[in-house]
Amino acid sequence: MTVVKADEAAIAFAAAALARGELVAFPTETVYGLGADATSGRAVAGIFAAKGRPRFNPLIVHVMDVVAAGRIAVFGERALELAAAFWPGPLTLVLPRRSDAGISELVTAGLDTVAIRVPAHRVARDLARTAGIPIAAPSANRSGHVSPTTAAHVAADFGDRLAIILDAGPAQHGLESTVVSIVDGQATMLRPGAVTADAIEAVLGAPLSRSLGGGDQPASPGQLESHYATRAPVRLDATDVRPGEALLAFGPDALESLGPSVNLSPKGCLVEAAANLFSALRALDQPHIVAIAVTPVPGHGLGEAINDRLRRSSADRQGEPAR
Ligand code: TXA
Ligand code: MG
Repeated sequence: MTVVKADEAAIAFAAAALARGELVAFPTETVYGLGADATSGRAVAGIFAAKGRPRFNPLIVHVMDVVAAGRIAVFGERALELAAAFWPGPLTLVLPRRSDAGISELVTAGLDTVAIRVPAHRVARDLARTAGIPIAAPSANRSGHVSPTTAAHVAADFGDRLAIILDAGPAQHGLESTVVSIVDGQATMLRPGAVTADAIEAVLGAPLSRSLGGGDQPASPGQLESHYATRAPVRLDATDVRPGEALLAFGPDALESLGPSVNLSPKGCLVEAAANLFSALRALDQPHIVAIAVTPVPGHGLGEAINDRLRRSSADRQGEPAR
């Protein structure tokens, strides 16, 4: 049985597996992560192989605290401000990588920057502390698929190919961390996520510029257009539900649907909608469904990240290799 309740013994087992260079899945407050020893090229290569992830897409390093982060990346004033405001928590900082970082080149895909975060989830923190190593961890899904918010989602994508899947129930935020790069003191959001742009701007005291990619050369290589892919196509801004479609709704005025349907938040709460998004997409992605019709979700606050994920899951995948 790979899925194990994340108690002390299971965390100790997972830490020992990481030290042996094996892969372990663990909960974070955003989504479940697929972890490996970030200092071991062989272990990190295992992540790319298991996910089917392109090698040019770098990984996030998870550490215990800002002191451990400071051994890996160079922190300027702005980075320290953001770390103080949001760590531990769902913010990833992309910073210049230290020459003595000791992180495998594979983690950063040859870039001279490194993405780093201090997770808030108790299990993620206990695992990092017990293992005593920086943990490279992308979301624990097959590359290009919907991110996992439960241990069962991870098991569905990887079966028993992992040393262990630590189970601590559904992820709190349900959306990945917000990725912000800081280069020459200039903060740029590369991926909207569980920390809103408003919250970051309030700390910076200035508008946050965005570089959300989508073209051939995304600033954050993971922000490829087609991602979060369901098997059934996703149809955005639906005002009706067509025969054979499933319905993904938001708010009190949901459309009538004869087929399967999920309302992300009947009361119209974006926090609740974010937490439900990925499991709803997985639940509606049934073999007989011709498409998933999605009603509009407001774009403010967490709505920016929700709409980003929906847009990517609806992107045309024709002719694209499965990632
Ligand atoms: O919430 C999260 O961030 C989850 C949990 C497990 O921590 N992790 C996660 O990892 O979402 P992943 O690999 O699915 O997404 C990492 C994103 C990708 O878009 C990747 O391209 C970007 O961060 N990234 C990593 N290193 C980077 C770098 N040096 N420069 C720019 N983008 C980078
Ligand atoms: Mg991912």
